[in-house]
Amino acid sequence: MQTIFSGIQPSGTITLGNYIGALTQFVELQNEYNCYFCIVDQHAITVPQDRMVLRQNIRSLAALYLAVGINPDKVTLFIQSEVPSHAQAGWMLQCVAYIGELERMTQFKDKSSGKDAVVAGLLTYPPLMAGDILLYGTNLVPVGEDQKQHLELTRDIAERFNKKYNDIFTVPEVRIPTVGARIMSLQDPTKKMSKSDPNPKAFISVLDDPKQIEKKIKSAVTDSEGIVKFDKDNRPGISNLISIYSILAKKTISEIEALYEGKGYGDFKADLAKVVVNEFEPIQNRYRELMESTYLDEVLDKGAEKANAVASKMVKKMENAMGLGRKRR
Ligand code: TYM
Repeated sequence: MQTIFSGIQPSGTITLGNYIGALTQFVELQNEYNCYFCIVDQHAITVPQDRMVLRQNIRSLAALYLAVGINPDKVTLFIQSEVPSHAQAGWMLQCVAYIGELERMTQFKDKSSGKDAVVAGLLTYPPLMAGDILLYGTNLVPVGEDQKQHLELTRDIAERFNKKYNDIFTVPEVRIPTVGARIMSLQDPTKKMSKSDPNPKAFISVLDDPKQIEKKIKSAVTDSEGIVKFDKDNRPGISNLISIYSILAKKTISEIEALYEGKGYGDFKADLAKVVVNEFEPIQNRYRELMESTYLDEVLDKGAEKANAVASKMVKKMENAMGLGRKRR
C-alpha cells in the first residue's frame, strides 16, 4: 500500500478553502492509502501566535479532522511537535537546502515582505515541511495549489540528499484536486481564501453559524452582469462561487449554469448558502461532541506513538547517511 502524508497549520480557523482543497481529499483517500495526517504546530510558530489560542487551535483542528470523516482506525493523526523526529529531520534538511531556493518561495516572499524583522523559521519553513513528508517514505502528498512550489522543493531536496549521501528517500508526488485546488477570497476573488485574512468576510470558516455563512455569501464580490456563468479569467467572483457550489453539491458546472438560467445572483447565492450550511451542520455537531470528549486525546496519543515509531527509524537512517553520532551495532 502506498503512503500519503499531509498537514494543516493550526493557525486560525479552518476555512472552506482548507476543507475543499485538503480535507475532502484526505477523506476520499484514506481508504486506499496508508495515511499520515498532521497538525503542523511547529510551522504555525513561524508567525506570531498567542500560546493559549494556539493550544486551542491545535485541539480544534484535531477535532475537525475527525468531524469531517477522518477515521483514526485507518489513518495516523498526530501533532507535529509530539514527534521530535520532525524537528530533527528539519535541521538535517536545512543543511541540504540552499538559502537561494528558500528565498525564492512565494510564501516566504509574501509573508516577509514589508517586515523589518523576519524570523529565520519563516525562511527555513520548507525544509521542515520536506522533513514531515520524507520521514514516512511518502509517495503522494494531497494539497491545494498554493503548496505546489513547496512540494517541488521537497522533491529537489530529497533528490539532492539521495545523491549526496545515501539513496534513502522516496521522492514524493504532489496531488492537487482538479476542481477546488484554489478557492478564492469572497471579498477579492483574485486572492486565495486564507484563514489569516484580516477581513473575516473574505473567508468562510467550517465553524461559522448559518447566519454568518448566509451573510458572507450574500456580500461576496461578484460583478454587475448578473448571469450565473463560469468564466474564471473575466469573472472570477461568480466563477469561484460556482466552483464551491459544484464541489459541495456534486453537480457539474454546466448543470449549475442550466439551473440558474434566467435567474439572478440573489437566488443563486441564497441556494449556495443552503448548500454550505447543509455541508457544515453535521460536521459542527460532531465537532462539538469531540471537543468535549477524552477520545480526542486517545486518538492523538496513539497517533504520536505510531508516527514516532516510523519517523525515528528514518531519522536514524538520515544520521547514518550523514555520519552523525556514533556507529551502533
Ligand atoms: P495550510 O495550513 O495553509 O493549508 C492546509 C491545506 O489547505 C490547502 N488550502 C487551500 N486549498 C484550496 N483553496 C484555498 N484557498 C486553500 N487554502 C489552503 C493548502 O494547500 C493545504 O493543502 N505548508 C502547509 C502545511 C504543511 C504541509 C506539510 C502540507 C506542513 N507540512 C507537509 C503537506 C505536507 C500549509 O501551510 O498549509
